[in-house]
Amino acid sequence: MKIGFIGAGKVGFSLGKYFAEHDVHVSGYYSRNLDSSKEAAIFTKSNYYINLEDIVKESDILFLTVTDSSVPQVYSEILKYDIRGKIIAHCSGAMTSEVFSGISQKGAYGCSIHPICAVNSKETGYQDLSQAYFTIEGEEQGKLAALLKRCGNKTEFLSAEYKIAYHCAAVYASNLVIALYEQASTMLKNCGLSQEFSQKAFLPLFEQNCKNIVKKGTKASLTGPVERGDEETLRKHLSILSPKEKVVYKELSKGLLSLAESKNQERNYEGLHNLLEEG
Ligand SMILES: NC(=O)c1ccc[n+]([C@@H]2O[C@H](COP(=O)([O-])OP(=O)(O)OC[C@H]3O[C@@H](n4cnc5c(N)ncnc54)[C@H](OP(=O)(O)O)[C@@H]3O)[C@@H](O)[C@H]2O)c1
Repeated sequence: MKIGFIGAGKVGFSLGKYFAEHDVHVSGYYSRNLDSSKEAAIFTKSNYYINLEDIVKESDILFLTVTDSSVPQVYSEILKYDIRGKIIAHCSGAMTSEVFSGISQKGAYGCSIHPICAVNSKETGYQDLSQAYFTIEGEEQGKLAALLKRCGNKTEFLSAEYKIAYHCAAVYASNLVIALYEQASTMLKNCGLSQEFSQKAFLPLFEQNCKNIVKKGTKASLTGPVERGDEETLRKHLSILSPKEKVVYKELSKGLLSLAESKNQERNYEGLHNLLEEG
């Protein structure tokens, strides 16, 4: 099974190197810029292609690791060639395999494979992939799951109808947390603390919190004023927040409250409920 990559960016580099390291045959790369294809080929000890037709011909699975917005255009170019029996995959977390319209008439199979991982470097991204879970949506799921299992990854199949909700969930677990951390740093700076202190002081807390969640789950990791039912502290917090900040604080606290209630069923959280529902 030979795997070709169209798009030699962060994910193309990283998946190619990762597969090659697990003795999966990587045919090589075709990218918009020839230099990117050449660099990726050197990095993965594979080939580079100067035209699309050749990589299509020499690959059984084609990963379209281009930006999401380029997937339809690259797919329409691929359709000019003979793709019978081939699997065409993209790695977008938000798009489904429905972007590969008319693929069955061409005798090929379309799917989307999403590594749940922040790949932020061409050079080192592959190292993080061994820990990554993958979702597979579309056709030939079994073959792709077997390929990833061979590399040691956990996979699950995802139905196309859930792809947006799934991607939104990933944003909650990663991107939105960055916004929360940024808010916390800004608040420290506003307390008169230095820039450096404000950016770094919460890192051990942040890191420990992540480790606790990974190890023990969300409920067992819960600490803080909501869990304690400390209405007075929450009231003081709300008194210093802007109206917009209050909305976010209250909504997130409601999420914590429902965790706290299922954790400490003997406690009475009625006061907190009322406070968080106040207009
Ligand atoms: N990065 C992540 O953390 C991550 C995680 C999961 C999934 N994904 C998904 O993985 C895919 C790739 O993302 P990425 O982060 O690797 O993006 P990226 O680093 O921007 O790489 C995309 C590459 O595609 C090439 N390209 C763009 N348009 C092209 C075209 N028309 N024909 C041929 N090559 C083209 C560009 O290559 P040149 O250098 O040749 O211009 C660029 O380097 C996206 O679908 C993304 O949603 C990303």
